[in-house]
Amino acid sequence: MKVIVTGGASGIGKEVSDYLTSEAFEVISVDLQDKINVKQLDVTDEAAWTDLFGQVGPVQGLVNCAGIRTRGTIMETSMATFEHHLKVNVTGTWLGIRSLFENHEAGSDASIVNISSVNAEIAVPGQAHYVASKGAISALTKAAAIEGAPMGIRVNAIGPGAIRTPMTAERLNDPEQVSWLEGRVPLGRVGEPNEIASVAKFLLSAESSYITGTTVFADGGWTSNGV
Ligand code: NAI
Repeated sequence: MKVIVTGGASGIGKEVSDYLTSEAFEVISVDLQDKINVKQLDVTDEAAWTDLFGQVGPVQGLVNCAGIRTRGTIMETSMATFEHHLKVNVTGTWLGIRSLFENHEAGSDASIVNISSVNAEIAVPGQAHYVASKGAISALTKAAAIEGAPMGIRVNAIGPGAIRTPMTAERLNDPEQVSWLEGRVPLGRVGEPNEIASVAKFLLSAESSYITGTTVFADGGWTSNGV
């Protein structure tokens, strides 16, 4: 099974690329960063998506892991920052979905996995631009699932909780933040990238053949805890 993974140079996307490769998937890993075994691609660049599919042909899987997050209250955030988050996190995901749809081989099955967040369900202060983008990804996932179904394309999302990656390094190096998280998350710990990669593999494979349009939360129970 041929799968494109975006954001493949770091964190969750790197782990997804490595894990799928080890499980005999044919992985095309792409990222803004130029790294070994990773093709350079800006997910917001429409022409770059056309070129990529021109090179690799139809694919049976796509995992949209590329994403950005900065901190700042609504009053501290510029319009440019707000729009940039929507562009990378939402438009980038949408362009990937559209490219797979356009290049899909009639009569075959495909599966798309988007990366949403617990923040699609529960908000935290100081990152409304990020929270808004993740809510949009879960909603986009539902809409794309409805349009993809008649073509044999399933579309789901994963909603990770706090996962140890470069994006969360600063927060997870702060003992106060870690102890808050450990208290808030029923499983009592931070998650690891491999705990997202295994869900991505499940959603790509035929083992999840009746699942589409949903966000699977891999969050240690965070979104279930009302306390
Ligand atoms: P990361 O910062 O380690 O990796 C993100 C990757 O996306 C980087 O390699 C970066 O170069 C790439 N990227 C950024 N803009 C790009 C663009 N325009 N085109 C192509 N690549 C681009 O972050 P992490 O933690 O691995 O995040 C991956 C996804 O998981 C993101 O969507 C993030 O919002 C989401 N997520 C992460 C959580 C966490 O706790 N780490 C929790 C919930 C969601």
